[in-house]
Amino acid sequence: MISLAFFKASFLLQISIIASFLLAAYAGNFYQDVAQTFGDQRFKILEGGQLLTLSLDQTSGSGFQSKNEYLFGRFDMQLKLVPGNSAGTVATFYLSSQGQGHDEIDFEFLGNSSGQPYTVHTNVYTQGKGGREQRFSLWFDPTTSFHTYSIVWNPQRIIFLVDNIPIRVFNNQESNGVPYPKNQAMRVYCSLWNADDWATQGGRVKTDWTLAPFTVSYRNFNANGCVKVPGSSACGSTNSLNNDQAWQTQGLDAKGRNRIRGVQQKFMIYNYCSDAARFPQGFPTECRSSRF
Ligand SMILES: *[C@@H]1O[C@H](CO)[C@@H](O)[C@H](O)[C@H]1NC(C)=O
Repeated sequence: MISLAFFKASFLLQISIIASFLLAAYAGNFYQDVAQTFGDQRFKILEGGQLLTLSLDQTSGSGFQSKNEYLFGRFDMQLKLVPGNSAGTVATFYLSSQGQGHDEIDFEFLGNSSGQPYTVHTNVYTQGKGGREQRFSLWFDPTTSFHTYSIVWNPQRIIFLVDNIPIRVFNNQESNGVPYPKNQAMRVYCSLWNADDWATQGGRVKTDWTLAPFTVSYRNFNANGCVKVPGSSACGSTNSLNNDQAWQTQGLDAKGRNRIRGVQQKFMIYNYCSDAARFPQGFPTECRSSRF
């Protein structure tokens, strides 16, 4: 009996060691996956590569980028935003190509004064042209724990998700003459910077520098996409740790369309496609057809 119990215990221990190794492998590692872009000592990798913090003070913000460039993929990042009075600060998680006529897919998190809600700002640039803003409030406090923000980018559509709930879709409408990002590889970028000239309540509320440094934490970066091979236009290996290729064709089924409709009804606070005053000559083409 004793030896059987011992055998069982050591077997379970082995299983749990294997399981924690796999979990660590799935989570990725910031030392391997990213490089700092600016901010000197304000960029920190902690916990053996599992946690990354960016901070902002009156001299500078900070940021990083993925080492790989991708042409399509699913990109997940967990963020814990600046607690308390974060007015004037902007944290980002976005994809961007480089150079003229760039493509970009943005998540930006606009801070607020104490007790006032964060705003999630999204935008899509194609061939250098943006102006496709949609803004949301959140159904949770994004400063007390980590939440997952994801961008799915495939040839048919771009989907923005929060904790795996779709909040926005940008469909490929090239057939209607709307440019779609599909030829330029993009990197993942994250940053924390000051934008108190516009970010909070239209720029009326400024950053309180007596509270600096401001800090945002990043965790569990997962890029499940097509990695660009330097010097080649082809997509090389799919750099996928968990080998889940669902993003390649991911869309919205009936349930997904219901969820996004519900989120947009309750939490969308700005939609360029409803801003008639901004487009006196008529809405952009992509606003004219069904949203999902
Ligand atoms: C900040 O809070 C105000 C008041 O609740 C709200 O109108 C605004 O959308 C919030 N977000 C930003 C970024 O100003």
